[in-house]
Amino acid sequence: MKRISKALCVLLVALTVLPILPANAADGADATLRFGRDGKFKILLVADPQDDENLEETTTQILRESLDLTKPDLVIYLGDNTLAGGYEKQKQAIEAVTAPVRERNVPFAIVFGNHDDEFGVTKEELLEIYRGLGCLTYDAVPELHGVGNCNLPILSSDGKKTAFNLWLIDSGTYNTDAGASGYDYVHEDQLRWYKETAAQLAAENGGKVVPALDFQHIVIPEIYDKLYAKLTFPMGKLSQERLGAIYSTTPVLTRLNGYWLEQCCPPDVYDGQLDAWKEVGDVLAEFHGHDHNNSYEVNIDGIDVINVPSVGCNAYSREISRGVGLVTLDEADLTTYTYELIHTFDLALAKGSQIPNVDGGQTKAFYWRMRILDRIVMALFRLCRLYYRFFPEIL
Ligand SMILES: [Fe+2]
Repeated sequence: MKRISKALCVLLVALTVLPILPANAADGADATLRFGRDGKFKILLVADPQDDENLEETTTQILRESLDLTKPDLVIYLGDNTLAGGYEKQKQAIEAVTAPVRERNVPFAIVFGNHDDEFGVTKEELLEIYRGLGCLTYDAVPELHGVGNCNLPILSSDGKKTAFNLWLIDSGTYNTDAGASGYDYVHEDQLRWYKETAAQLAAENGGKVVPALDFQHIVIPEIYDKLYAKLTFPMGKLSQERLGAIYSTTPVLTRLNGYWLEQCCPPDVYDGQLDAWKEVGDVLAEFHGHDHNNSYEVNIDGIDVINVPSVGCNAYSREISRGVGLVTLDEADLTTYTYELIHTFDLALAKGSQIPNVDGGQTKAFYWRMRILDRIVMALFRLCRLYYRFFPEIL
């Protein structure tokens, strides 16, 4: 009898406490993210798989082997996750692209890209499918532009406080403003929500901002001002015009760390997201997909901007840059983080890898050529940066 009344008490306390859980707690999947006993938290980033219900076997194998290698605490899909016609096929595509993660019981979250909802299934419907599979992404405020804008707090290893925060932002599809064109941007209402939520988190943290990372599909527009040289006059094919300014067609080598194999495709409007991050002061880095072939990392006004290349072997992409990203946070110093790109060729050349053997895989000799080429290119970049540390920057 005593035991029953004790159980009743626990139930009553739980029922009293549940309604006062913070508004940003996810409602279906278990959303408790926490630093490990070793003080580390690892996030695996998967960009642009962009495949249908018959997911390319090589993509699946890259996911399996990168998960087994890194053993992440969370996986984040950076948008353009699936491209299948109709509800049933989209559902199967989502099941396929998340299967390696779910099979290993790793928590996962997503943001949407510009292609996810192009096949007659809305982002709301897609999010419902994802959430049914345990996805942590939720719609914090459904009235905002986009779907799945939310934040995921990471608790300290002792579980006593929010030590870190992850922003998942829907950067939209295409700009539908009157007379506008190009890709969509992060809207004012999303930025307002971001600032308010960050302030709420800071208030709960004794007035100190909670350090954070931002994940979205499309890069911020300031990437052009950082990566390319601003020119005073047009230079034919060597220059390009954008938003009333003239830029070099190719990036300035010294500003580039990683591959630039296609033009960056940000929105054609300065949306104020970078200014909002600077004002709040919480975001250490932004990670995006969208430009499949690029893997550059740059720093804009103190915030790292990192292009995670496409993992999709059925999407347009280049073998030299293809891979997944790995972010490692260390509770001992949350003013920083580490990031590395895990190349497909390095996975394929690891002992026991099945990537060369699955349908669509390349030979080991091919992956060796990719690795050697990559090491040479990266060494050249390092030399460039070293040289220009002592001499003025030129194109
Ligand atoms: Fe894409």
